[in-house]
Amino acid sequence: MKILLLGSGAREHALARSLTADPSVDELLAAPGNPGIAQVATLVALDGGAEDPDAVLAAARAHGVDLVVVGPEAPLVAGVADGLVAAGIPCFGPVAAAARLEGSKAFAKEVMAAADVPTAVARVCSTQDEAAAALDELGAPHVVKDDGLAAGKGVVVTTDRDEALAHARACLAKPDGRVVVEEFLDGPEVSLFCLCDGTSVVPLQPAQDFKRVGDGDSGPNTGGMGAYSPLDWAPQGLVDDVVDRIAQPVVDEMARRGTPFTGVLYVGLALTARGPRVIEFNARFGDPETQVVLARLETPLAGVLHAAATGALGALPPLRWSPDAAVTVVVASEGYPAAPATGRPIGGVPADEPDAWVLHAGTRLADGGLVASGGRVLSVVGTGAELATARERAYSVVGRIDLPGGHHRSDIALRAAEGSIEVPAG
Ligand code: AMP
Ligand code: GLY
Repeated sequence: MKILLLGSGAREHALARSLTADPSVDELLAAPGNPGIAQVATLVALDGGAEDPDAVLAAARAHGVDLVVVGPEAPLVAGVADGLVAAGIPCFGPVAAAARLEGSKAFAKEVMAAADVPTAVARVCSTQDEAAAALDELGAPHVVKDDGLAAGKGVVVTTDRDEALAHARACLAKPDGRVVVEEFLDGPEVSLFCLCDGTSVVPLQPAQDFKRVGDGDSGPNTGGMGAYSPLDWAPQGLVDDVVDRIAQPVVDEMARRGTPFTGVLYVGLALTARGPRVIEFNARFGDPETQVVLARLETPLAGVLHAAATGALGALPPLRWSPDAAVTVVVASEGYPAAPATGRPIGGVPADEPDAWVLHAGTRLADGGLVASGGRVLSVVGTGAELATARERAYSVVGRIDLPGGHHRSDIALRAAEGSIEVPAG
């Protein structure tokens, strides 16, 4: 199989590693990629970029690829999958009309209501007065979300009504701006990736992400500072429950609307006293959760993604998983998330080992050396029979990396390893 992978983060580096480890893959192409991805794939130049449907289609045709795997959301929302599907080229990732589950929070809420999926009570507001009324109706802590894509910066959770209203005002000031004001959900968060082929759903193993920049969940939200899997503290039957009550009903509803969902439905959940509630959907793999989920997947990945892209998930044998734990720690640039420094030299990146490796995100080569080019620079993965061992291996590598001004969280997977995470009693 010949595959074209779109994207340039540590998520895509993890996908690239897993795809090239699949014996059915003869060749992996990637665009735009990064220096880490270039170690396992051939980078191809796309004239209009990975978000240009015509450029992706032309490259897929020119290289005769059997499958396109889309990492980030932007190409999906731009309709990259639409062009490929129309041309008969299998694409892992939804068409634009289905990617709206991520692209519009108001649309996701509408689909959840139609499919009777448990989620936070929410009000979609188009004016400041509506937003103010919704804040008062739903009470503190306040949750205010930009309706559209905002690269992880669209959500404010605060007990300060003025701050909530200021965020609503900023979102409403955008052209056609809308905000979603919703009920605060209390309980640990879980990310569950559900592979979908338009009709069937195959769940992967759940992971937990650390969204805030600082230890103890302090500071602003980021794209994600680390993750781990498995979640030994999660309730028995959680995955089946989420498929039965959330993912399958959503996939059925999307098919009923004539916009079947293909690719990965990322279900972001809060485990509340009243059971799992959807916090958000994404139409793509999560970053950094993918780094730990794929570290544990033993079934060759390319066949699985190809099955999802071609309506063949129903015929797939059960996925095989390593019982080992995996932890990933993100090394970020100074100033991330507000104003990440770029151009700083990166030293000390060790060679891969079987139970610890470094994935590239915001890196580029300059004068033969590696330099930081973005906010999240590297994603270090450690594995081990115990979560504590996986943590130690990841942090041991993080300690060897030299990035001036760089920072990371030191408490990724700590509470889980200590056994101190609790799901509120129902
Ligand atoms: P989102 O972009 O919707 O995933 O929101 C980003 C983060 O904000 C989530 O990972 C949660 O930590 C937090 N968040 C979003 N919605 C809620 C909610 N209804 N209740 C509590 N926290 C939330
Ligand atoms: N880790 C959160 C996300 O990918 O959106």
